[in-house]
Amino acid sequence: MLLSEAKELPAMTELTITKPDDFHLHLRQGDLMKQLVPLTAESFARALVMPNLQPPVVSASDLKSYQKDLAAVGSDLQLLMTFKLMPSTTPQMVAELRQAGAVAGKLYPQGVSVNSEDGVTDVEALYSVFDAMQEQNLVLCIHGEMPGVGEMEAETAFLPTLQALHTNFPRLRIVLEHVSTRAGVEMIKSLSATVGATVTVHHLLLTIDDVRHDHHINPHHYCRPVCKSEVDRKILLETVLSGHPQFFFGSDSAPHLKATKEVSTGEPSRGVFSTPVALPLLAQLFEEYDQLSRLEAFVAQLGADFYQLPKNKDSITLQRSPWTVPQEYFGVVPLWAGKTLEWKI
Ligand code: NCD
Ligand code: ZN
Ligand code: ZN
Repeated sequence: MLLSEAKELPAMTELTITKPDDFHLHLRQGDLMKQLVPLTAESFARALVMPNLQPPVVSASDLKSYQKDLAAVGSDLQLLMTFKLMPSTTPQMVAELRQAGAVAGKLYPQGVSVNSEDGVTDVEALYSVFDAMQEQNLVLCIHGEMPGVGEMEAETAFLPTLQALHTNFPRLRIVLEHVSTRAGVEMIKSLSATVGATVTVHHLLLTIDDVRHDHHINPHHYCRPVCKSEVDRKILLETVLSGHPQFFFGSDSAPHLKATKEVSTGEPSRGVFSTPVALPLLAQLFEEYDQLSRLEAFVAQLGADFYQLPKNKDSITLQRSPWTVPQEYFGVVPLWAGKTLEWKI
């Protein structure tokens, strides 16, 4: 064997990349928001901020007031604002939202996720709104699950709706958020480059076996869409590791207080909190498959390209310096709590 082929290269100790973007993030409100904004800024330059608040971000004035609250926290995190599409949203509102600085509108089919009881039941009824979004060059982000369908099949059942949207609005940029299935990945690849998908850390790492054991649920792995089978996970991982340009990082980090997660009766709240561990976990995963050189594109280039944004100017350094993930951040249990990670920001 030639020396250059020797496998035992000295392990890298430092990795500097363009500061990443998180194209799907829940920054919440109130005290939690005040903690989340600076924590996010440690890892990310920009974040696409989800609008599923109570009450939701629906109008231009809602958007401005939420943006003001987030900015008042004070950090260098750049906010990419979104609004929630309601059955009552109009093309006129879309124009005003664009004017107010919205980057994307979010479609939650009714009842499929947290705070979506007021979501959309008739997607076609919103076609004039999608047309306005297409004309205004806004991105349509979709929580792609079909209401009333079991959690393992809900994403697959939604895919024909996604396909129809793309057929009717070929110039509208559409993102299938938190893609979780092989069928979803294959659908995205079959559509043109105006359609993309965000991929979370937890869907790259976990399967349904990490979520449910007999009748026990691990609440800190419990989210919508639920993590699926090993086959699904492998396809997501292969796609991301291959550097496919339609798939980029969006954490869907969705913190819920421990008290609403570790419940003795009823269902735990759904959402995985991954902000403080996302980049170290991704670095570890990409390194494990010898693709560390592709991490930067996944977290800092492909999403920016899709959103037609310039690449960030700042950089971030990860160091190989094992650390134990805290059990809690301000009352929220993070993904990988208590476990050791190789890379540290
Ligand atoms: C999200 C939340 O908690 O806001 N939860 C989740 O399980 N992903 C909502 C969402 O992204 O659908
Ligand atoms: Zn969602
Ligand atoms: Zn989300």
